[in-house]
Amino acid sequence: MSKHRIIIDTDPGQDDAVAILLALASPEEIEVLGITAVAGNVPLALTQLNARKVCELAGRPDVPVFAGCDRPLGRDLVTAEHVHGKTGLDGPVLPDPQMRLQEQHAVDFIIDTLRAAPAGSVTLCPLGPLTNIAMAFEKAPDVVTRVREIVLMGGAYFEVGNITPTAEFNIYVDPQAARIVFRSGVQITVMPLDVTHKALVTRARNDAFRAIGNRVGRAVAEMTDFFERFDKEKYGSLGAPLHDPCVTAYLIRPELFSGRHINVEIETGSELTMGMTVADWWRVTGRPANALFIGDIDADGFFALLTERLARL
Ligand code: BDR
Ligand code: CA
Repeated sequence: MSKHRIIIDTDPGQDDAVAILLALASPEEIEVLGITAVAGNVPLALTQLNARKVCELAGRPDVPVFAGCDRPLGRDLVTAEHVHGKTGLDGPVLPDPQMRLQEQHAVDFIIDTLRAAPAGSVTLCPLGPLTNIAMAFEKAPDVVTRVREIVLMGGAYFEVGNITPTAEFNIYVDPQAARIVFRSGVQITVMPLDVTHKALVTRARNDAFRAIGNRVGRAVAEMTDFFERFDKEKYGSLGAPLHDPCVTAYLIRPELFSGRHINVEIETGSELTMGMTVADWWRVTGRPANALFIGDIDADGFFALLTERLARL
């Protein structure tokens, strides 16, 4: 499989940070063309700042970071400081970045990159609300068919919801954007809560991050220490789910994951179930498959990969 040339669209977020670090630690498999920030876990001013902090933590101030949309397409922004802390990246103390934010708008960067690259050569990796991606598709419909694939974190079926009883956070924040993306015709691989809730940072796994002994290992362990207090309380689980790194791990080791090609539609009409991913897991509708919906993960293999790669930074 040829190297993945990717744009990471993100709202860091501790788990977004780990996803970015994993990508930057894996140059044989992944080339990060740019990072586009979107409003989500915290407002845009913080997500673009956090994205730059993470690049510098990885020793990669050369990766261009762009700021994108500061609100969802048709709704007020909902944030998740209750999970990620006031900064969005609470836990480790990371210095203010020296690298500059790019002047170009993230949506224009996505469009220009897709137009300039050979068709079918760039993969989009959204780790937050899908606002930037949908805006790019709306503004420049010609770029849609140029995307190689979208691998995203969002949605849920068996796990249902984490921000409402029926919706996962990334989809709930901008359901209109999600609908545009899921109906775009681009090949989509989805990492829903069904799989990310199996990627739990147990005490032993977090000790392994810390034991790497480098700055990145310590920072990731401290992020998880912060992030897990919320999930342990909420789910009574063994540790924090590392949602977003499932996306970048899939690019490196797809055999760690399994799922089904199914139809996924996004609820945008009902306030009660707004942002629900109506996933036809049992294939009862006859609607055409538009996504590979992942359901399972080799969690030990996933954490072994993460620990091995973070040690390289
Ligand atoms: C998703 O929401 C955010 O809080 C996480 O970063 C992840 O992308 C999980 O629902
Ligand atoms: Ca995220």
